[in-house]
Amino acid sequence: MTIDFRIEHIDPLGQGVSKAASKEEGPITFIKKTLPGESGTATVYSEKKGVRFAKLNKLNTVAAERIEPECLHYNECNGCDYQHTNYQKELEYKKAALARHLFKFPKVEITVHGATRRLGYRNRIQLHYDKKKKLLGLLDEKLNILPVPQCKIIDPSIAFELRALYAENNWLKILAKEPPKGHLEIYAKEKDAGHNVKLSFNRPYADGGFTQVNFEMNEKLRDWIQKKTNEVIPPKSVIYDLFGGNGNLTAKSKNSSIVIDKYRKAPDHANHQKFFSIDLYDKMAIKSLIALKDQGVARPSWLIIDPPRSGLKNLNAFLTEFKPEGFVYIACQATSFTRDTLPILNNYDLVSVDLFDLFPSTQHFETVGIFTRRKNNE
Ligand SMILES: C[S@@+](CC[C@H](N)C(=O)[O-])C[C@H]1O[C@@H](n2cnc3c(N)ncnc32)[C@H](O)[C@@H]1O
Repeated sequence: MTIDFRIEHIDPLGQGVSKAASKEEGPITFIKKTLPGESGTATVYSEKKGVRFAKLNKLNTVAAERIEPECLHYNECNGCDYQHTNYQKELEYKKAALARHLFKFPKVEITVHGATRRLGYRNRIQLHYDKKKKLLGLLDEKLNILPVPQCKIIDPSIAFELRALYAENNWLKILAKEPPKGHLEIYAKEKDAGHNVKLSFNRPYADGGFTQVNFEMNEKLRDWIQKKTNEVIPPKSVIYDLFGGNGNLTAKSKNSSIVIDKYRKAPDHANHQKFFSIDLYDKMAIKSLIALKDQGVARPSWLIIDPPRSGLKNLNAFLTEFKPEGFVYIACQATSFTRDTLPILNNYDLVSVDLFDLFPSTQHFETVGIFTRRKNNE
């Protein structure tokens, strides 16, 4: 079905929102890659629970902020959301999205940390394939495979490998022994970037070990967290770096840090970090943390919490047990940030909120909140 639309605003997922004048004229419609003030026609591809999703066909009114996307695949591809507007606007939309998520919090200014590169930064891409259809690419909104040989968001070293896979359907030979349908991942580790790109087939995402997808912005985020925590956390405090991976966020901390992750990826080295493997989503997680005292580990006075997208639903239980002086919560999904931290505002003050754009051109970003314990809450 083709519809006429007029975009009123951009929603937190980066989609244009078109509302009909009345209910009879049709439900609210979300149309990606449109901008406020734009009108035109779009084709509805899905409708549920009184809202519909449509794909842009033609623009009759074009917003002044619209620019030509750099990537050839942009209009068809689901990977990027903001290449049709300039970076300043992209950051404004992201800040507005975060402000909307935080509407139930006491008012706090959001500081935005933009990226220097909008494209060519991703050190990891996961592609789907179907050998019978000879298709390799990203999934579009209808979950069809869209070939993306010229993808612009990936690091040049990954892009080089990607083009080599597509050339003469090389990937079919490389995947000869793999199942008819599946996925592959091309990635580079920080130390290898630019010369040692790896391929994995039908393995879990980030199988080679988690690293942030944007090296440059990760450094900015890490340095900022270290500077802030060194400012607010008294010397000789013990920090628990929860979901700490390879200890990225506390690598340069002045404090002793206990890095906890399900997957132990780094050896202890003779400095301030110690690594332990604990499943933090397990119902025994807090008991396992308490039991670290048997290995000579002191209780934490600060927590740094950087969970996967799904967040840490029982954050409150960790705070109730350890009563840290404060904690830093880093979330790549703002809805997890608000769900997990709203219930603890009785005991903790939200001191600052920073938005780090680790995922330029897409709707995603990292939210970093610093919380300190209220003095009257012992
Ligand atoms: C968003 S990453 C953060 C990693 C690290 N803080 C960094 O800056 O690189 C989330 C981390 O959670 C870890 N993780 C996933 N599930 C976990 C679990 N059940 N228990 C503990 N850690 C888990 C992953 O291995 C990954 O290192």
